[in-house]
Amino acid sequence: MFDLVIVANRLPVDRIKLPDGSNGWRTSPGGLVTAIEPVMRSNHGVWIGWPGGTDGDEELFSADGLDLAPMSMSAEEIELFYEGFSNGCLWPLYHDVVVKPEFHREWWDSYVSVNRRFAEKAASLAAEGATVWVQDYQLQLVPQMLRDLRPDLRIGFYLHIPFPPAELFQQLPWRRQILEGLLGADLVGFQLPGAAQNFVRLVRQRVGHKTHRDLVYLPDGRTVRAAAFPISIDAKGFEDMARDPEVESRAEEIREALGSPRTVFLGVDRLDYTKGIFARLRAFSEVMKEGHFGVEDAVFVQVAVPSREQVEEYRILRDEIERLVGRINGDLGEIGRPAIHYLHSSYPRAEMAALYRMADIMVVTPYRDGMNLVAKEYVATRFENDGALVLSEFAGAAEELRQAYLVNPHDINGMKQALRDAYDASPKESSKRMKAMRKTVTQNDVKAWADSFLLALSQVGTHEKEPRPTA
Ligand code: G6P
Repeated sequence: MFDLVIVANRLPVDRIKLPDGSNGWRTSPGGLVTAIEPVMRSNHGVWIGWPGGTDGDEELFSADGLDLAPMSMSAEEIELFYEGFSNGCLWPLYHDVVVKPEFHREWWDSYVSVNRRFAEKAASLAAEGATVWVQDYQLQLVPQMLRDLRPDLRIGFYLHIPFPPAELFQQLPWRRQILEGLLGADLVGFQLPGAAQNFVRLVRQRVGHKTHRDLVYLPDGRTVRAAAFPISIDAKGFEDMARDPEVESRAEEIREALGSPRTVFLGVDRLDYTKGIFARLRAFSEVMKEGHFGVEDAVFVQVAVPSREQVEEYRILRDEIERLVGRINGDLGEIGRPAIHYLHSSYPRAEMAALYRMADIMVVTPYRDGMNLVAKEYVATRFENDGALVLSEFAGAAEELRQAYLVNPHDINGMKQALRDAYDASPKESSKRMKAMRKTVTQNDVKAWADSFLLALSQVGTHEKEPRPTA
């Protein structure tokens, strides 16, 4: 039995088969893992999640000192719950309908049953009065299901992705069930205050509960709080890694392998249609075509981490991006000097740190993003206060990193201007901006995020202690 239970769709590690046939583990992709792993390390708890694949083994195990409880998933659940409802419906719906969400009843049924299995597993591992922290859009029904099973628990929920405006959320045929699922938590956390406000407004309109500011008053006397807790990274960990001489020499090695151009632009994203990869590469290539810089002056390194490859939209996106990279390199490249270095792969953290260190301009241009931890990781590694960040206004990180070159990723000309500005900036200007951003990132690290969420969770009370509700 555990006093802290993290429930997330994914474990922080994926089960992989090693060449000798035995089981091995690899860090799983995405921002959630980056954020929660340090929290688990400092609060001895257990993490429930899917280890990838269809292996039925649910035996508890530990990896790297973390206690992990694998949740198995059948091939049908992967198709209906994970690829279907989570990533073919909720993901696009919550990201401003960047692609059209699909609503299928059999996807929903699977979402309900997988959420129930997660809730049952959490109920079986939580000690009396334990804290359970449920993560992200794949598990929005778990809080209420878990409360029904274990009313003694303190339950928190955190949404790592944006919560959509009411106009979009209303499209969901199961909107009321999702809201009621979330209301099983004592505290519902979001990246930004606007998301928490959207949620409270929807609860008032759709479920009919009384609300006052960030509080929801349930008929049974319970109070639910909805508030923003902008997520962050292990800033010191990243900086320490960046200072490692091995990372530094790897950074130099990469730059040399690129032909020692004056300026290296870098993009690092899961290969996802929300990330704006296509538009940013187009903007870069147009600036180059117009002669602002040539291939000997500048290159773009784009790391595209493979993601959700069975989902149709992701396959289409991959083809489109790879065709574009081929075209740009065909038009602008020279022998031994492509304009864009495209890598469809994921890398260990030390290699990521080396990439950040060698890049002069980090380009992060999502159409919509809950936070975007890559932007913060880049800033954390720039301990000499050099380098520049081009950042979409529509990433949660833009609310904190005001000194980035902020862009609207739908505006190609605006993006081109930002790339030129970052390229032309004087070292003095870059250093002023980076210094301010580094202050923000180091002061608000992931530990501060988790501590503030867990403290707020422990403080949510009942009606008696709260101000009088108003309709
Ligand atoms: C985002 C989501 C996470 C998710 C990650 C990787 O960061 O917020 O919940 O785990 O992407 O996506 P995947 O589908 O591979 O788990």
